[in-house]
Amino acid sequence: MNKKHIFLAIIIMFLLALFSGCNAETKGESEKEAKQPIIVQGPMPIEAEKFAEKLKDVEEEQSGNFIFYKGTVDNYPVIVAKTGKGMENTAAATAVAIEKYNPAAIINQGTSGGHDPDLQVYDIVLGEKVTNIGSLKTGDKEKGEGISPKEWVPMDLMASEGSAGEDPDAENIRYFEGDEKLLKAAEAVKEIHKGGKVVKGTIGSADVWNNEVDRINWFHENYGTSVEEMEGAAGAQIAEAYSVPYLGIRILSNNKVNEGEYDPNTAEANQKYVYEVVKEYISSIE
Ligand code: 5AD
Repeated sequence: MNKKHIFLAIIIMFLLALFSGCNAETKGESEKEAKQPIIVQGPMPIEAEKFAEKLKDVEEEQSGNFIFYKGTVDNYPVIVAKTGKGMENTAAATAVAIEKYNPAAIINQGTSGGHDPDLQVYDIVLGEKVTNIGSLKTGDKEKGEGISPKEWVPMDLMASEGSAGEDPDAENIRYFEGDEKLLKAAEAVKEIHKGGKVVKGTIGSADVWNNEVDRINWFHENYGTSVEEMEGAAGAQIAEAYSVPYLGIRILSNNKVNEGEYDPNTAEANQKYVYEVVKEYISSIE
C-alpha cells in the first residue's frame, strides 16, 4: 500500500465511524419515540395539574375539552390527561388518548366518596375491580305505584348486542378488573403514602353523587363497593375494549357513612402517591 491508499483507507474508516455514530444516535432517538407512554387521567384541574407539574419537557395538546400534558418521568414518556368530570368525558378522553398515543397503560386517579365505614378521608383504594353503579333496570310498576330503588337490578350493557331490557343475562354486575402489573407497582410503594392506608377494593362509578346513607349501604352490600366516584368504570370499559392495561386509584375526599368531612387537599396527596406508582411501574417495564 502506498501513502495514497493508506490516506484513502483512513478517510473511509473515518466516514464509516461517523456514519455508524449518526445511525446509533437516530436509532436511540427513534427508540425513545417508539416507547409507549403511560397515561395518568385526572378529572378536575386539582386532580391533574399537580401531576402535570411534576413532568419534564412538557408539551400541551388539546382535543375537544381534553388537555393532554405530554412529558417524561425518569426519561420515560408519561401523558397526564385532564379529562373533565363524569362518565362521558372519561370514556371519550380514554378513546381519544388510546387512538392518539397508543399507551402502554392507563391510570385513572382522583378523589372519591367512601362506602366502607372502615375507610377514612385520605385512605386510598386501588381498584382491584371497577363497576358502573348507574347501569340499572327498575322494577315493573304501573302509574301511581311509586318507585322502589332497592328493587332495581344491575344491568350489564356489555352482556350481549341485544336488548338489555329484555335479556335476563344482562341482569348481572359487570366488573372490570384492575391490571395485575399496575396493582403490583401500586402495592410496592404504598408505604410512601403517609396520610392514610392504601388498600385494594372495588370502585363504583356513575354520574351520581350519593348522599343517602341507606343507598350507599345498599351499594356497599350488593356491589361490594369501597368507594364511589364518577369516572373509573367508564375508562375501564374503553381500556378493556382496546386491551390496554388499566387501574383506578382513588383517595377518599369524603365519607358520608362515618362522617368523613370533604377535604379537597386529598387530590394532591393522591397525585403524589400515583407519581411514585408510575415511577415504580416504569422501572418494572424498562
Ligand atoms: N360521589 C361521587 N363522586 C365523587 N367524587 C368525589 N367524591 C365523590 C362522591 N362522594 C369525585 C368524582 C367527580 C367529582 C365530583 O369528584 O369522581 O370527578
